[in-house]
Amino acid sequence: MSSLEKTGLSRRSMLCGVLVALAVPGGLAACGSEPTPGGTGTTGGTTPGGGTTPAGPPIIAALADVPEGGGLIAGNPANGKPLVLVRTGETVKAFDATCPHQGTAVSPPEGDVITCPNHGSTFNASDGAVTKGPATKGLAEVPVKVEAGQVVPA
Ligand code: FES
Repeated sequence: MSSLEKTGLSRRSMLCGVLVALAVPGGLAACGSEPTPGGTGTTGGTTPGGGTTPAGPPIIAALADVPEGGGLIAGNPANGKPLVLVRTGETVKAFDATCPHQGTAVSPPEGDVITCPNHGSTFNASDGAVTKGPATKGLAEVPVKVEAGQVVPA
C-alpha cells in the first residue's frame, strides 16, 4: 500500500490540489468562502449575459429562434394554446396552430405551406388560408410584433 493510500488521498485528489494552488493567484484562497472583490450582488436586474430584463409584454419566442423563411410552434402566453409562428425577414406572423378540421396542432411551416399532420390539410403560411382540405376554414391570425428581438403579443 502506498503512502497516499494510507492517508485516504488518491493521486488524483492530490494532483488536483497542487494544480489549483499553482493556477489560482493567491493559491488555495479560491477554495475558501471569502467574498471576491467587486463580488456578485443580486441587485441591478441584469442577466449573466449583460442584457437587461425589463418588465414588458410576455415573450412568445426570440426572433433568432424563428427560422428565416420558416417558423416554429410556440405557446401563446395569453391562453397556453399553440401558435404557429411564420417569419419573413424581421417580420413574424402568428396563427392559432389548432387545425380547424378536428383540432390537431399543425406543423411548423415548410416554405409557404403549413400542414396538419392528422388528415393532411394545408394552409398558406402568409395568411393562414386553407389551400387543401378536409379543413374548410383557414388558421386564425393572432396579432404579434417583434420588439427588441422578441416576438410578443401586439
Ligand atoms: S385535424 Fe387537421 S386535417 Fe383533420
